[in-house]
Amino acid sequence: PFNGVALLSQLPELPKIQGVEHTDNPNIAFRLAIAQTLVQALPEISLEAAFEGVQVSNKEGDFSVAIPRFRLKSGKPPELAEKVAKAFQPSPWIESVQAKGAFLHYIVPTSTLSNLVLSTIQAMTPPPPSDSADKKKSVAEQTSAYGTNRSGAGKKAIVEFSSPNIAKPFHAGHLRSTIIGAFLANLYEANGWYVERWNYLGDWGKQFGLLAVAWEKFGNEEKLKEDAVKHLYDIYVQINREADEHPELHDQARAYFKSMEDGDEKALGLWKKFRDLSIKKYEETYARLNIHFDVYSGESQVKKENIAEALDKIRTADFVERADNGALLIDLTKYKLEKAVVERKDGTPLYLTRDIAEAKQRWDKMTAEKGSGFDKMFYVIATQQDLHTAQFFKVLELMGYDWAQPSKDPRMQHINFGMVTGMSTRKGTAVFLDHILEETKENMHNVMKTNAEKYAQVEDPETTADITGMTAVKIQDMQGKRINNYQFDWARMLSFEGDTGPYLQYNHVRLCSVERRVAETDGLRLPDPLDPATLRLDLLKEDKAKELLIILASWPDIVKYATRELQPSVVVQYCFRLTHAVSSAWEVVIVKGQEKDVALARLFMYRCARLVLGAALRLLTIPPLERM
Ligand code: ARG
Repeated sequence: PFNGVALLSQLPELPKIQGVEHTDNPNIAFRLAIAQTLVQALPEISLEAAFEGVQVSNKEGDFSVAIPRFRLKSGKPPELAEKVAKAFQPSPWIESVQAKGAFLHYIVPTSTLSNLVLSTIQAMTPPPPSDSADKKKSVAEQTSAYGTNRSGAGKKAIVEFSSPNIAKPFHAGHLRSTIIGAFLANLYEANGWYVERWNYLGDWGKQFGLLAVAWEKFGNEEKLKEDAVKHLYDIYVQINREADEHPELHDQARAYFKSMEDGDEKALGLWKKFRDLSIKKYEETYARLNIHFDVYSGESQVKKENIAEALDKIRTADFVERADNGALLIDLTKYKLEKAVVERKDGTPLYLTRDIAEAKQRWDKMTAEKGSGFDKMFYVIATQQDLHTAQFFKVLELMGYDWAQPSKDPRMQHINFGMVTGMSTRKGTAVFLDHILEETKENMHNVMKTNAEKYAQVEDPETTADITGMTAVKIQDMQGKRINNYQFDWARMLSFEGDTGPYLQYNHVRLCSVERRVAETDGLRLPDPLDPATLRLDLLKEDKAKELLIILASWPDIVKYATRELQPSVVVQYCFRLTHAVSSAWEVVIVKGQEKDVALARLFMYRCARLVLGAALRLLTIPPLERM
């Protein structure tokens, strides 16, 4: 039979283009094959141009080519399209071509598609660790490298995200930064980059003087140890109320912060304790979101000498001026970026000043540690800080740093996003991340309980509710273009129907269970270890199977497209396309009760769909569930 690796080795050899690798990307293989036939019919097109001109399409064919893009002199596009169609010879790579006006529409053979796509997925999926302590979990934990590429090998990125302020609310902006930033870091890793995840905490400033005063009056060692984030917030709210009536508390706070600035060990010791315990609590909560950081930086970590150096440089620049009150101002009105203070009249730096110094500090740190600076530094910050970010990017540029110069592919990039409205919990407006997660989990748990029969089968409802809940929050957040605002909607995002996070998890669970079920009912199991060449993949003939295979084939391109666009929604929408295709395949491409070869081929296709959905969810920082 015409199948498996046997078939792959029988396929006509593909032309080669420098830097174009097809072994991990089935669509590239087809595009190369189509490019070759184009060049044969129209030799004035270069192979590279032909390859670039082959597009994946979903309407008229599997791939298509628009002849006008080649700007050929030898004839009118419809005539040239006709010429290509006439010269066409079917091959194992391409079944047919149709000329339609200036376009060519190609159909590829389903058997080549199935063999190529499924073998590629299999080849890029290491077997689950056989010594895995928890056998039950091993199915959902099996990760596939299919979709990843090495285009970023040797390149380095810093992704700065989340960046909450100690003793202040963790608001929706921080939540979005956390979700989008963690995805972005994964995305760059999927492209082969070295990535560092940085959290730039709001952990310095006069408010820490006030916090110390609060601690003296209301502090409770036990509560601090238990949940520093909450306790510090509580006493900070309390002291602010108190300071409204007793303004002298602000003087105490100022004095305290000054002693911190002067390096007083006792003052710094208390501050460090607050910071360390807050980080410990943040880490727990981030872990619940399946997110971690490599570096906990923060405003406090910008070295004095680096701030002084930056200010010295700025002082002599031509975009600087002294305000009447003695503050140092930068004038960026020329660039429509207004004016901003970088040094107060008492000589203290600002948020803006620290960002300027911190960027250079990061560049130097990476240069020292890794031999060269970053190729990308992303700041995942809400649009409210567009002006702030543009200002410090501009200052760094004007200071002349090579790495801060604008270009088509700038190293410094602001990843901004719109607002969330209505993010409130039963207790009111959300203030702590873990409260949001707790509320999500409870609501999810209630939704699960409405299906008593299913609920009874869930082994660990708490964990399942927690993971499904966080999936709901993340999918809701990453579903639309980053820049759009959205309304936080409990009922909608927690529903199992419609395009929601729970719906995606449900589909993953269903894909996991098909293998379990046919093993029980039909005694049918995929061979282990599995060599796709031993399966009759040519038996995957249905239109619904082909639709699904086409979607699986596009996963590596989706990863690249998401990277170009820097939009998580590209991956989320892909997940929905994939699950919709699986859902409509279920009914016609049945496994149960089928002839063995047919059943095994279909089962393998669903396994690959599960691996790709799992990979896509993981890329979105979501752990796929095996049961729910
Ligand atoms: N802590 C800041 C805030 O909550 C966000 C920090 C963003 N990052 C930066 N490099 N400025 O508003």
